[in-house]
Amino acid sequence: MSDEILYLNGQFMPLSEGRVNVEDRGFQLGDGIYEVVKVLNGHPMWLEDHLTRLRASLKAIRLVDTLAAHPLEEVVPELIRQSGLGNATVYIQVTRGYAPREFIFPHPPEPTILAYVRAKEFPTADEIMRGTTLHPVRDQRWAHCDIKSTNLLAAVLAKEEAFEAGADEALFVSQRGVVREGGSSNVFAVVEGVIRTHPLSNRILGGITRKHAIAAAHRIGLSVEERAFTLPEITDPEGGCSEVFTASTAKDLLPVRQIGEAVIHGGRPGDITLELLDIMRAEQAFMAEMELPIELSSLSRG
Ligand code: PDD
Repeated sequence: MSDEILYLNGQFMPLSEGRVNVEDRGFQLGDGIYEVVKVLNGHPMWLEDHLTRLRASLKAIRLVDTLAAHPLEEVVPELIRQSGLGNATVYIQVTRGYAPREFIFPHPPEPTILAYVRAKEFPTADEIMRGTTLHPVRDQRWAHCDIKSTNLLAAVLAKEEAFEAGADEALFVSQRGVVREGGSSNVFAVVEGVIRTHPLSNRILGGITRKHAIAAAHRIGLSVEERAFTLPEITDPEGGCSEVFTASTAKDLLPVRQIGEAVIHGGRPGDITLELLDIMRAEQAFMAEMELPIELSSLSRG
């Protein structure tokens, strides 16, 4: 069985055989949107949520009626089946397609639709317990961060800066010090016992992992306030913040042990973070028809 399979404009092929025109608007203008779906044990996680967000992104960039000929809810499982992969991600991208270079929309557009599956390992229990580090950067992105656009230059530069500073992830902070989200993750904090995260707005991506983390918290009776917090509120040792964690498809929830120079929760994962992650890992195990994974909250209790 071959592993990396591509679906490109209706055809399945090995990923290495995919060809796109150099005047594709996705390539030249960043005129496109995308999704990343986690695949566990051959099963896509929360696929419906990802396809709903994909449709919302398409509507936002005024590329409607593009999916009719491409039933992604069937294409994605078929890609996974053909690849034979267990743990992987599926990357989906839709662009306004090929047209001689011009800013104005082509009429009618001929969108480029592609999806491919690639093997991927997800954080191990040890990596989760070790946690992650964030490097604050000024958020210089555009005012439509709710669209999952392929215009990722600001995130690329921010994440590179974080990497060069020795951190795992960038933390986008507004001019006024408001924490928005990570370079490719949403960010939560537990402040005075309340779980908080930036509200849905044009300043952040409405993450699927974020949504399921909030649902997991509600399920066990924890209150969540979708209310922004500032960087000093979570880094000041007197600020009442006990836990910070990131949320993303590629890494689920990761406890944050350090932001810039500030150590969070003594550098140890917080109990609420691990409890939420346990619930989400159990949900994913159920969807993936797998054994329940090791309970992280029991590891932390020692
Ligand atoms: N990024 N915020 C931003 C800016 C992101 O790019 C992402 C995901 C998230 C988390 O969303 P979700 O939980 O739906 O993955 C938040 C993807 C994974 C990427 O670009 O690779």
